[in-house]
Amino acid sequence: MRHRYPAEALARARPRHGGLWVDVSADMLAQAQEALKDQPHVRLERIEVNGSETADLPYPPQTFDLITCTNVLHDIRDPVAFLSDMRRLLAPGGQLVIEDFARRRPALLWAMFEWLARRVEEGLVRAYTLAEARALCTRAGLHVVYGKAFPVDWFWRGWALRADYIVSVC
Ligand SMILES: C[S@@+](CC[C@H](N)C(=O)[O-])C[C@H]1O[C@@H](n2cnc3c(N)ncnc32)[C@H](O)[C@@H]1O
Repeated sequence: MRHRYPAEALARARPRHGGLWVDVSADMLAQAQEALKDQPHVRLERIEVNGSETADLPYPPQTFDLITCTNVLHDIRDPVAFLSDMRRLLAPGGQLVIEDFARRRPALLWAMFEWLARRVEEGLVRAYTLAEARALCTRAGLHVVYGKAFPVDWFWRGWALRADYIVSVC
């Protein structure tokens, strides 16, 4: 069965595991609530995650075994700070899975497209290529273990990556 949201698929695959779905939008949370109404172990919270604001997330370090971030990175103003906070929240051995649409060429046309899109979708900051997303993860102290770029349809391209964090032993 195909699920609309990756987090929904996860909740159904592991129905007894606790889960948390965070979004700043009340509308999106209402959709999530509808999709997950039969999943009592998933909690929904309205939170804005964004760089320094993420430092206020009410979770102690190393809380989560798995963090997924789907179609959101392009909205984040300070992606390295955001990814560093995700790394802080990962339990040892935990994984971060990120997916988003990809920036495309030619650069000038894409810049015009993003400029227009910002007028429609207020939050949009910028889209990244898979290589750029990898580099952001590395700057945030994450170790990318898998990455894949893929076509979505005739216009959109996407990428997904999985990362864990580099533990330094001194
Ligand atoms: C394109 S939608 C993707 C929704 C869902 N994750 C999915 O994959 O279907 C982008 C979502 O990111 C949320 N968002 C954007 N910036 C955010 C932020 N700083 N903190 C929390 N949520 C944010 C928006 O409210 C919106 O629901």
